[in-house]
Amino acid sequence: MKLDISTKLKMNNGVEIPLIGLGTYLSESGSIVESAVQAALDVGYRHIDTAKFYFNEESIGKAVRNSSIPRNEIFVTTKLWNSDHGYNKALIALEESLKRLDIEYIDLFLIHWPVENLRNETWKALEEVYKEGMCRAIGVSNYTINHLKELLEICEIKPTVNQVEFHPFLYQKELMEFCQNNDIILEGYSPFAKGQRINDPKLTTVAEKYDKTNAQIIVRWHLQHNVVVIPKSSKKQRIAENSDVYDFSIAEEDMDYLDSLNENFRCTWDPTNVQ
Ligand SMILES: NC(=O)c1ccc[n+]([C@@H]2O[C@H](COP(=O)([O-])OP(=O)(O)OC[C@H]3O[C@@H](n4cnc5c(N)ncnc54)[C@H](OP(=O)(O)O)[C@@H]3O)[C@@H](O)[C@H]2O)c1
Repeated sequence: MKLDISTKLKMNNGVEIPLIGLGTYLSESGSIVESAVQAALDVGYRHIDTAKFYFNEESIGKAVRNSSIPRNEIFVTTKLWNSDHGYNKALIALEESLKRLDIEYIDLFLIHWPVENLRNETWKALEEVYKEGMCRAIGVSNYTINHLKELLEICEIKPTVNQVEFHPFLYQKELMEFCQNNDIILEGYSPFAKGQRINDPKLTTVAEKYDKTNAQIIVRWHLQHNVVVIPKSSKKQRIAENSDVYDFSIAEEDMDYLDSLNENFRCTWDPTNVQ
């Protein structure tokens, strides 16, 4: 399949999610994140990832409303924070996110973290708001295979997406395959390991071969794995660079090489031992 910036994947409820999106964690509320969203929309991104925890939902909503692009062409994800677990709190959390965003509906509402004891009750609330049409899809984040198995046992509505840390230095192959075999889209966050591994010389050897930057190689690697990718930048030039990945493809032997860079390196929280 030939990929371009408008390529989407169909989720298990029929709704489509753009394969590339803009990450916004630490993109400061106000003019910084508003300009980042505008810059992303200008070069063709149609997917923005935020969360209550990022404290920038108002600004993102404002940028989406102020853009000349119709609301139904932009895919907005937000997430329920850890202190909002439990049935009633989760219902309120969705309403409050929607109020802050002020964009009629949320495209994808995720449980940010699989909080012990409460996550299944929270999921019931997400099923409710989905049925009421307040969001077009519901999903999870930072779920391991065990968390997903547990959820698949109790759910009435399957999660559409699992958003997890994913990059060549944390190539979660087993989790990716579990998701893909269960018709759950794997979405990778921190593709550049928050910038910590972006200059790794092992990436540079591949990047030089294709006359691309390390960042572009990483993004393209996600796309070729059918993994949704949400690189974050608040800089216009990098937002464009990170999406300029559709004029080449990584050959199979180089995909294998990039896969082999896995070190189980995590730049953020690790859900492995969450019961
Ligand atoms: N569900 C979760 O628990 C979770 C956790 C973490 C992240 N996320 C989501 O995933 C998104 C992406 O992850 P992330 O923000 O953690 O990290 P990331 O996208 O891996 O890396 C962002 C860092 O890389 C820099 N950068 C971006 N493009 C670059 C380029 N072309 N060349 C060099 N440096 C570049 C950025 O700096 P500048 O901004 O200065 O360009 C920033 O410091 C988040 O923003 C958030 O939306 C979700």
